[in-house]
Amino acid sequence: MTPSGSLLAATGLHKAYGPTPALVGAEFSVHPGEVVAVMGPSGSGKSTLLHCLAGIVRPDSGTVRYGARVLTELSDTERSALRRSEFGFVFQFGRLVPELTCLENVALPLRLNGMKRKPAEALAREWLERLEVTDAAAKRPGQVSGGQGQRVAVARALVTTPRVVFADEPTGALDSLNGERVMQLLTEAARETRAAVVLVTHEARVAAYSDREVIVRDGIARDMAGVA
Ligand SMILES: Nc1ncnc2c1ncn2[C@@H]1O[C@H](COP(=O)(O)OP(=O)(O)OP(=O)(O)O)[C@@H](O)[C@H]1O
Ligand SMILES: [Mg+2]
Repeated sequence: MTPSGSLLAATGLHKAYGPTPALVGAEFSVHPGEVVAVMGPSGSGKSTLLHCLAGIVRPDSGTVRYGARVLTELSDTERSALRRSEFGFVFQFGRLVPELTCLENVALPLRLNGMKRKPAEALAREWLERLEVTDAAAKRPGQVSGGQGQRVAVARALVTTPRVVFADEPTGALDSLNGERVMQLLTEAARETRAAVVLVTHEARVAAYSDREVIVRDGIARDMAGVA
């Protein structure tokens, strides 16, 4: 089991890229419905931590548990299946598929999970409405603004009602007004669906939307709960 009812928990994570240590014994846990901001200087290991938690990068040692499963012991195929069904992702630059319309981009994770086109696009449209970006539906990502693109990316991350949403600098490329709105919409939707959010950010304004902050410094994650 994960510590005290947490949904996702990592212990003793180590990861090096060649001679460069990225994580040196990082600990982390998040509960269902909790929004955790991961902060810390550039190069401290935030993205590496997020990638290990999400099963994108395999740590050199240490354990990541997701509910009853040990993520770090699953095969690549099992981890990709888990990512597709249980996790959602938002990155700094939306990383939408340029050839698809925004609606098709949001419907894509559902289609990959086997949903037929009509219901998938109907659900995708609902999420575009929630993210206040229905105007973008028929456009391709290259034809919408940065803020619109990020809303589309958030819709795509949430459309499968994931249990955990991973967001790496989701507002990093946005002006502060757009960034605030994207954070409001993301955290509102996550709280409503009881999804946990692991949010990497440099910005205190963005971290203000979280329930808890974890500081990563030199590859070590420290929970700020109880720290004045
Ligand atoms: N693919 C990689 N190959 C080699 N080194 C890497 C790779 N990814 C990360 N690193 C190194 O690992 C360390 C941690 O990097 P990481 O990307 O996790 O930091 P970060 O906290 O996300 O930084 P930033 O705030 O700049 O995004 C850094 O020293 C970085 O140079
Ligand atoms: Mg990073």
